[in-house]
Amino acid sequence: MWTESPSCILLTGVTGFLGKVVLEELLRRRHECNFSKIFVLLRAAKGKTAHQRFLDEVASSKCFENLSPKWIEYVEVIEGDLSLPNCGIDDSLLPLICAESTHIMNCAACVSFDLPLIEATKANVSTARNLISLAKSCPRLRGMATTSTAYVAPHRSGLITPTPAPLPYSAELLYQRILAGKVDEKALLRETKHPNTYTLTKCLAEHMYLQHAPAIPGLTIVRPSIISCALRYPSPGWIDSKAAIAGFIALMGGGYLRVIDGNKAARLDVVPVDIVANDIIDAASLTPSPPPVYKEECEKSTGALYPIVHSVAGVRNSLSINSVAERSIQYFSKLHAQQNKKNPAIRDPKLSYLGGRNVNFHLHDLRDHRLPLAFGALCFQISGNKEMKRKTQSLARVLKKINHIFPYYTHHTFDFVPGRTWAQSIDEQVNSLDPNAEVYLGIILDGVRKNLLRM
Ligand SMILES: NC(=O)c1ccc[n+]([C@@H]2O[C@H](COP(=O)([O-])OP(=O)(O)OC[C@H]3O[C@@H](n4cnc5c(N)ncnc54)[C@H](OP(=O)(O)O)[C@@H]3O)[C@@H](O)[C@H]2O)c1
Repeated sequence: MWTESPSCILLTGVTGFLGKVVLEELLRRRHECNFSKIFVLLRAAKGKTAHQRFLDEVASSKCFENLSPKWIEYVEVIEGDLSLPNCGIDDSLLPLICAESTHIMNCAACVSFDLPLIEATKANVSTARNLISLAKSCPRLRGMATTSTAYVAPHRSGLITPTPAPLPYSAELLYQRILAGKVDEKALLRETKHPNTYTLTKCLAEHMYLQHAPAIPGLTIVRPSIISCALRYPSPGWIDSKAAIAGFIALMGGGYLRVIDGNKAARLDVVPVDIVANDIIDAASLTPSPPPVYKEECEKSTGALYPIVHSVAGVRNSLSINSVAERSIQYFSKLHAQQNKKNPAIRDPKLSYLGGRNVNFHLHDLRDHRLPLAFGALCFQISGNKEMKRKTQSLARVLKKINHIFPYYTHHTFDFVPGRTWAQSIDEQVNSLDPNAEVYLGIILDGVRKNLLRM
């Protein structure tokens, strides 16, 4: 619920990609969002306090460079860990945080696709349960947005509405059985049709939230698709994460990824990080305009209305993997031609194979990925360059992992019902930019070059 009295926000995940942009968006729109303070909950790590991490990993990021230097005065760092009871917040601070927080925005999760089921459950479901308990202890809570993923809905043809994906047992029972080690991971993935433990545990977390929704005022689950570079804010193309499509493009641009297990026609639903940040802020009811939930679609297919909203491009605004790959190669080849005299270390970008996992795939993989990298590692070993040997072996593992983990996404088109169009979401902020997929891909390519490849 939106009111005119100043809010106090509890925000998680600010060392991550999305969390930083949510924080920047809040601070830039401070007057409209009308808050007095943002508590940012961070874990301590590697001998650093949460406060030190905030200074080193968040405040120093280029994400905040366009804000007035005074922005930091609105932020209070809270050491915590969502996997612990009371979210790991110190007993001396807990009553104050619960008493003051009017809105919670959760951008924390473990986005690794291949954690063992128990680990992924602790990282994504136990954390959700702890945050739910905390939310229930906040008497002034007016709104809460938590980030899920649109891929909690296993692939199917036809429209995918923002409704819960079914589980074989009640969420509580499944959670307890997983933690007790009584669930066979492969069998559960097969039965639920989830591609990995990440989407499965995000799905289970959603069920936990929905179960407790009546006791959490204004709870909304925001489901982004593949999040990538900013369309507009903090600056066009800004990104600091090599996860997902940007990492894919960076590896193609660097001339390393040349063979892709995918269906040329499959469309990739890629959404700008600032659109998602905007949706999260609106979903938490911090602004007077919450995003339209697609009532008709939900009610038609389920007879119910769930507090879930897609933050996606929509299939009509998504490009085929073939177009993304071809344009990326074109873009980086041109750049390579201009730069190769200055930096001969850059490999010529090339796509030698995009198709199914057949004999051709394996031959190209061997010729363009595995043999050159194995040979490279051997040369570095002989020359005694341990660092380069380690980097070459790590690159070989990354390329193998890409063609192991991503085929589920590169073979299927997901027709998510968008929560709203980008134009609706940003038209007040963007006047001259036509936010379609072609324009956006250009922004991603520039963003990956500048922010990830630093070319
Ligand atoms: N990136 C995508 O393409 C994508 C797509 C769909 C949905 N999403 C969802 O969007 C959200 C943000 O993703 P992202 O890409 O920004 O991920 P990210 O860059 O990996 O950031 C994850 C954040 O979560 C924090 N975190 C993890 N476990 C925590 C814990 N136990 N306690 C406190 N903080 C914890 C991390 O803190 P540390 O620095 O301490 O590890 C980090 O700040 C997630 O819910 C993800 O599932 C992402």
